[in-house]
Amino acid sequence: MSLPKTVRLVDVGPRDGLQNESQPIDIADKVRLVDNLSAAGLSHIEVGSFVSPKWVPQMAGSAQVFAAIQRRSGVSYSALTPNMQGLEAALEAGVREVAVFAAASEAFSQRNINCSIAESIERFAPVLETAQQAGVRVRGYISCVLGCPYQGEVSSEQVAIVARELYAMGCFEISLGDTIGTGTPGKTRALIEQVATHIPREQLAGHFHDTYGQALANIYASLLEGVSVFDSSVAGLGGCPYAKGATGNVATEDVVYLLHGLDINTGIDLPLLVQAGARINGVLGRENGSRVARAMLSAGTHT
Ligand code: HMG
Ligand code: MG
Repeated sequence: MSLPKTVRLVDVGPRDGLQNESQPIDIADKVRLVDNLSAAGLSHIEVGSFVSPKWVPQMAGSAQVFAAIQRRSGVSYSALTPNMQGLEAALEAGVREVAVFAAASEAFSQRNINCSIAESIERFAPVLETAQQAGVRVRGYISCVLGCPYQGEVSSEQVAIVARELYAMGCFEISLGDTIGTGTPGKTRALIEQVATHIPREQLAGHFHDTYGQALANIYASLLEGVSVFDSSVAGLGGCPYAKGATGNVATEDVVYLLHGLDINTGIDLPLLVQAGARINGVLGRENGSRVARAMLSAGTHT
């Protein structure tokens, strides 16, 4: 299969990245990150979550972030909504794209959203129905598609079952999450082959955490399988402060460098993106998780 000409990147840094930060982050800094990402050409940005603040305190200010961002035309600003309470809050905040999130592993489902996989699907049904009535599209995430921190191996058949359910309910896209980054390219290809027997490849996205340094290789494997949407996190933001060695999503800068090197269009201005990542790293006092950004910042090629 030939490589796609264009790839859509969804920057999940403001959500998947910042949700893991234990230090307080000003709303203004979150807003600036989102605005910097749209200025760098990102057309899809996951801005925040409408989840329980007891579970994920960092996302508590998501409505304020949505109220203050500069909405550029053609850019989709999305949020996670695990239940009706989350959806209602998101609609009130003017969110026009939401995401539900399930898992392919029972143990992870319980730990992440406090219910079984089947219960989560039931919970999502009214979320999808209400969102669709409001003209809001819904993305579906599946966690632990290539391994679970509690359960170990996860079968691709199990991932395909959950994917098929979410797709049948009306999710416009299914993002396959390698939550703990243990996947490798061969397993990634086999997984996509399996899921693609139920869902068109154009409706699949890859969401690779880079804990084992396999994310770029897995993205390349996914490109070969006809997937052309990937989630990534500017500066590789993310990582759990309580799980030693855990890292965030693959860095957006690294994915853009890979894709541009393959003559694949992303619409993203790499130097502007590097500047956006450097700014939020400065705020967080964090080392840059993007190797491309580190190289460009030290060579001075980011301006
Ligand atoms: P629960 O405790 O079972 O919910 O949590 P509940 O319905 O029994 O409600 C308990 C309390 O939570 C109540 O408050 C509710 O009002 C409140 P109280 O009466 O005790 O004061 N509550 C809410 N508050 C705000 N917004 C809401 C909401 N819902 C209930 N939407 C629940 C169930 C799903 C809410 C909880 O488990 C939760 O919020 N989990 C958050 C999970 C999360 O955000 N995880 C991180 C994102 S997923 C991810 O990172 C993976 C991904 O990146 C892909 C990958 O890498 O694999 C997407
Ligand atoms: Mg994630």
